[in-house]
Amino acid sequence: MENIIFGTNWKMSMSRAQVTSYVHDLREELDAWDGHPDVFIMPPYTLIQPMAKLLKDSRVLVGAQNFHWAQGGEFTGEISIPLLLETGAKIVMVGHSERRHLFNEDTPERRQKLTASTTQGLRTVLCLGESLEERRSGSWITSMKTELHALFEGFSAPQLKQIIIAYEPYWAIGVNGIPASTPEIEEVVSTIRQLVSEFTQQTLPILYGGSVDEANCERIMAETSVEGLFVGRAALDAKRFVSIMHRSVKERQPT
Ligand code: PGA
Repeated sequence: MENIIFGTNWKMSMSRAQVTSYVHDLREELDAWDGHPDVFIMPPYTLIQPMAKLLKDSRVLVGAQNFHWAQGGEFTGEISIPLLLETGAKIVMVGHSERRHLFNEDTPERRQKLTASTTQGLRTVLCLGESLEERRSGSWITSMKTELHALFEGFSAPQLKQIIIAYEPYWAIGVNGIPASTPEIEEVVSTIRQLVSEFTQQTLPILYGGSVDEANCERIMAETSVEGLFVGRAALDAKRFVSIMHRSVKERQPT
C-alpha cells in the first residue's frame, strides 16, 4: 500500500450548482498539499461528467455508486460501464450496504458487477459489512468467509489489483448509525485482511466507513490497520473532507 486513500460517497446529495464550488475548494486544498493522499469521489450519476471535467488534470478519481454488469441491452433504467467510461468515470462501487439492504443486491449480482468492472479496467470499491444481528451473534465471520470466497473465486491478479475494500458495518452508517469502536473495526478488518490473503494470495487496501468525521478519524487511523477512510455526510463539504484527510494522515506519519 503506497498511499492512504480517502473516498466519499455522496448518495443522492449535492446538485450541479454545488459542484463547481466543491471542486474549487477541494482543488485549492489539495493543490497546496505536496504529495496529497489518493482521493476518490462518487457523486450521483448526473454529476460525474461535470466533476470529471473539472478534475481532469488532478489525481482525484470520480466515479459511480452503482452500474449494471451488462455491456448493453434491454435493462431499462440501468447504466453500463461503457456509458460510464464516456463520462470520465475512473472508479465504481459495488455492493454498498444500502444497495444490499434496500435493493436486494445479492452475492451473485455483486460478483457479476465485480467481474465486469475489474475486467474493464475500473478501480472498484467493494463494500463489505455485517448487520447488527450478525455482529451480536458472531455469525459475521462465517458470512464474511462465504462472501469473500464467492466474490473472489477464480479472479486473476490484475482483476484483484483493481479492488479497494470498504468495510462499512451496516449499523454504523448514516444518520441513525451507531459509531463503531476501534477494537470493533480492527476485529473485522484484520479478519478480512487474513481471509483475502488466504483466498487470493494478495493484499488489498481496506478502508473504513460509517459515520466517519473529524472527531473520530484520528482515532480510527491511530488504533486500526485501515489504509484509509470512506466518508459520507462529513465529506459533503470539501474543506471538512480535506480536514479529515489532514488529521488522519498525521496519525500515520513517523514521529
Ligand atoms: P456516512 O456514510 O459517513 O454518512 O455514515 C458512509 C457510507 O454510506 O458510505
